[in-house]
Amino acid sequence: MHQDKILNIKNLRKIYHTKRDETLAIDNFSFDLKKGEFVSIVGPSGCGKSTILSIIVGLLEPSSGEIEYGDNIKMGYMLQDDSLFEFRTILKNCLLGLEINHDLTDENKEYVIKLLKTYGLKDFLNSYPENLSGGMRQRVA
Ligand SMILES: Nc1ncnc2c1ncn2[C@@H]1O[C@H](COP(=O)(O)OP(=O)(O)OP(=O)(O)O)[C@@H](O)[C@H]1O
Ligand SMILES: [Mg+2]
Repeated sequence: MHQDKILNIKNLRKIYHTKRDETLAIDNFSFDLKKGEFVSIVGPSGCGKSTILSIIVGLLEPSSGEIEYGDNIKMGYMLQDDSLFEFRTILKNCLLGLEINHDLTDENKEYVIKLLKTYGLKDFLNSYPENLSGGMRQRVA
């Protein structure tokens, strides 16, 4: 793969199967992403945008097609649904990944608190998701 390539997607296809029927969500989707490019995927509701992103980050398997990644690619993905746990405080939602990975040191916790302050959530560390606005919830996520 060429050095400035981040992503090469070829003929991606995704069919969702449910008990009742199947939905062709993506059909023959190809695109390349190079270093420094900023790309928006735009289209009507239900056209397959979230499906494409979930496949790119590896949360979903494509039905067919190929994805090639550049070397040392790091991906972040803000899900459409923020998936916060309503029974955990904002801080505890943010510490969950560290907890699961047995990586919850004082230093890491301080870093998470610092990030939350950067995102304007300083006063909400001990609040619950239901008390935050949509945009605030997304920043937590
Ligand atoms: N888990 C699923 N099971 C079955 N069908 C699904 C599933 N997720 C999505 N679909 C179907 O796949 C198609 C694409 O859905 P997707 O969520 O990718 O659309 P989208 O472009 O992100 O839409 P929106 O703009 O509304 O977020 C839709 O027809 C949807 O009904
Ligand atoms: Mg979507």
